[in-house]
Amino acid sequence: MEQNIQEVLLTEEQIKNRIAELGRILTEEYRDKNPVVIGVLKGVVLFYADMVREIKTSCQMEFMRISSYEGTDSTGKIIIRQDVSSDIQGRHVLILEDIFDTGNTLSFVYQHLLEKKPASVKICTLLDKPSRRKPGVTLQADYVGFTIPNYFVVGYGLDYNEYYRNLPYIGILKPEAYT
Ligand code: XMP
Ligand code: MG
Repeated sequence: MEQNIQEVLLTEEQIKNRIAELGRILTEEYRDKNPVVIGVLKGVVLFYADMVREIKTSCQMEFMRISSYEGTDSTGKIIIRQDVSSDIQGRHVLILEDIFDTGNTLSFVYQHLLEKKPASVKICTLLDKPSRRKPGVTLQADYVGFTIPNYFVVGYGLDYNEYYRNLPYIGILKPEAYT
């Protein structure tokens, strides 16, 4: 597995430190707001588990599962495989996502959740690749862990064909590993 990693982009320690910083900000932001923290599966799993433990105020946890991506290429087609299971009307919603790439997924999820009439919706993404944004996507993340260049990255929840999610760091996949 690790022989296919060209370079470690973000170490475990860098990720941990940044999540602790975001945690302090989010704890202040959501104190007494009892937010619903919605994770977009599956890529978010490790980030979600670490992030919610740094949000030191009461919250509820929900998940959505979306399919949109095959291999390293966004198909642009989005299917909801699993929707949130509780009523979020009037609630403060915080979306957690692994990576904001073309913006297809987050734009879709954001609109979908807005239709449920929450009190607010904010987005926290671990990684942001602004250079990949599709023209016309105006949505922005409210909280970003790291802004990264246009590399295909894996690890810490991010996959290539469902592998590498269990790497504890974020690495750049060798191009020969996916061509
Ligand atoms: P969009 O294009 O909808 O992409 O913003 C969001 C989803 O695409 C996946 N994605 C990646 N997965 N390495 C990955 O392992 C990457 O570099 C990468 N870029 C996008 C990811 O599942 C994300 O939720
Ligand atoms: Mg993925």
